[in-house]
Amino acid sequence: METNNNINIMPRIGDKAPAFNAVTTQGNISFPQDFKGKWVILFSHPADFTPVCTTEFMTFGKMAGEFESLNCALVGLSIDGLFSHIAWLRTIKEKIEYNGMKNIEIKFPLIEDITMEVANLYGMIQPGESQTKAVRAVFFIDPEGIIRTIMYYPASVGRNFDEIKRTLIALQTTDKFGVATPADWRPGDDVIVPPAGSCGAAKERMDGNEAGLKCYDWFFCTKPIAAEEINTGNR
Ligand code: BEZ
Repeated sequence: METNNNINIMPRIGDKAPAFNAVTTQGNISFPQDFKGKWVILFSHPADFTPVCTTEFMTFGKMAGEFESLNCALVGLSIDGLFSHIAWLRTIKEKIEYNGMKNIEIKFPLIEDITMEVANLYGMIQPGESQTKAVRAVFFIDPEGIIRTIMYYPASVGRNFDEIKRTLIALQTTDKFGVATPADWRPGDDVIVPPAGSCGAAKERMDGNEAGLKCYDWFFCTKPIAAEEINTGNR
């Protein structure tokens, strides 16, 4: 899918996060090595001084402490320069009151990417949507620097930050407990256990011999994990 101008390279789930150096509102960064040992949400927005992006930054700014409690750094990006970023973030802090949020200070780095180098590296430029602005991309990168989830939204649709947080908690839970999470899972809900290794094990499960295990069929069993065992970032 690579093209001459590199516009269509799309990193995939399971790939190593492409490395880059960048200037940000919090100084220079080397990505992803500066964030080793942490989860990172690397996200792009189409442009500074636009309304949907403003609501998104205010929401992320408000939730920043929750992501920190989840050992997750936030890193933003758009194809704007540093002075635009600084002026926009100052406007947000000093002037914008929206939906109960005000005086929101963005303390996480926002990458300047006028050359589109990083945006191209991460497939954030999707020419059918815009040749000059990034789409709303969200990359979840684990503490080993591996891309674990990717979300894309068009410019016209603001992201759901509860879903972004829920996805991060689900990824951390599946890693910690070796399970999977069902549709619409929330901390405290039952999780899905891996398929039993043998017919005997499957029968034992079906007969309900494992604590808390509930089987719907031989291939589909769940078990509880108490909400208190899961870091929800709300402590
Ligand atoms: C916005 O954030 O409001 C926006 C940005 C680019 C295109 C359309 C909307």
